[in-house]
Amino acid sequence: YVIGIDLGTSAVKILLVDQKGNVCMETSKSYPLIQEQFGYSEQNPEEWVEKTVEGISEMINQFQGDIHDIEGISFSGQMHGLVLLDREQRILRNAILWNDTRTTKQCREIYETVGKQRLLEITKNPALEGFTLPKILWVKENEPETFERASVFLLPKDYLRYRITGNIHSEYSDAAGTLLLNMSKREWSEELLNLFGLSPNFCPPLVESHEFVGTISPEFSRLTGLSEFTKVFAGGADNACGAIGSGILSEGKTLCSVGTSGVVLSYETRNDLDFEGKVHYFNHGEPNSFYTMGVTLSAGYSLNWFKEKIAQDEKFEDLLQEVGIVPVGSNGLLFTPYLVGERTPHADSTIRASFIGMDALHERKDFVRAILEGITFSLNESIEIFRENGKNIEAIVSIGGGAKNEAWLQMQADIFDSKIEKLESEQGPGMGAAMLAAIGCGWFSTLKECATSFIQTEKIYYPIKENVEKYKKLFSIYKQIYKNTKSLN
Ligand code: XUL
Repeated sequence: YVIGIDLGTSAVKILLVDQKGNVCMETSKSYPLIQEQFGYSEQNPEEWVEKTVEGISEMINQFQGDIHDIEGISFSGQMHGLVLLDREQRILRNAILWNDTRTTKQCREIYETVGKQRLLEITKNPALEGFTLPKILWVKENEPETFERASVFLLPKDYLRYRITGNIHSEYSDAAGTLLLNMSKREWSEELLNLFGLSPNFCPPLVESHEFVGTISPEFSRLTGLSEFTKVFAGGADNACGAIGSGILSEGKTLCSVGTSGVVLSYETRNDLDFEGKVHYFNHGEPNSFYTMGVTLSAGYSLNWFKEKIAQDEKFEDLLQEVGIVPVGSNGLLFTPYLVGERTPHADSTIRASFIGMDALHERKDFVRAILEGITFSLNESIEIFRENGKNIEAIVSIGGGAKNEAWLQMQADIFDSKIEKLESEQGPGMGAAMLAAIGCGWFSTLKECATSFIQTEKIYYPIKENVEKYKKLFSIYKQIYKNTKSLN
């Protein structure tokens, strides 16, 4: 067996997976966000450790087999969060998370200091509030005494792993989201560290995601019941692990994942493409491979909003049930999902959503279909950027909310104009983490080999030509809404 730990934003999810890829046990323990001021989002790293201990020990208590058969463990983690440690490797303050937006000023300073073009050359990504470097600079400016005492920074899952093994490391897929990694050289950028007055020792040593980084410490073994011989492997960023766990491991494979926000992510073998920072461009959890990623901020959130504000008494299933009987184009109703702004392609936190083309005859079901179409159009803007940069999209694996409804799956095939694959069983980033442990343990020689054995497609949806044509016309109208409504805000 191997264990995959997904250290998420709301909970830690733990999977026990056997050599065939079956999930034999799973558990989830939640923890709160600490939001003391508008735009702040923090967590106490100690809670991540406590909840992981609770989850694993519960699992081990119920585990019927020989404890030594749990050969390896690895991680997936929420990206970008800043954990600061002092010389004795004690936590200096709460972790500042990826969805904390207090760092607009620091992002501006980064551009002023480095220049946007140079930053893109080195890191391949723009300065966004969520990334780690702006958070480091925020602490430096606003809490200088804390910063003085900081000797190293860690990303969330790297801190959890440190507490399990006693060893400090980071790995490329998460390091790519810090704005401090030289993406093509695959090393911490000396140039950026110098410009911001950070010492090279401030950054943890880098390893590959499947690399062995230690064993379970006697203390963690005592707390959880895990054997001290269980091997620990580095793991990856949650988006990289989500992609691994969905088999996004070869050129042409793309992922569409709908949760509160929506993500489209595409596998890349090259690290020298220039997306001008319009999409995220990160190292994958496999040596020398990469992925590009676009984010729609309000994906599932848009549907949730409609249910909460307008259709409180309905169940989601009932709302979605009628989507299939409304024709393509929702009888002339068009929705843009900018309820809380938009990330890709606009990176605009002030734009707001719209319904356009309302008719007195429209019913609730037209609104629901229009919402799904609007979310899918927004995701298609990211796919369009991939394609404009020469990407051939062979198949899109759809997971999350978008994969739970037949009509929505067909809509994705028609709007994305691509084959859509729905998986037999979907375990998300935790499975990607378990697969990294499986590679580390030597069960397979490559992640692709592991995916062939662990991940099966249940059904494929093909684009319907007539619908594709209709959606192309609507998509060109959809794209104009952003520029034409921007001045409203
Ligand atoms: C990626 C990002 C989020 C977090 C969520 O850039 O900010 O997807 O990784 O866990």
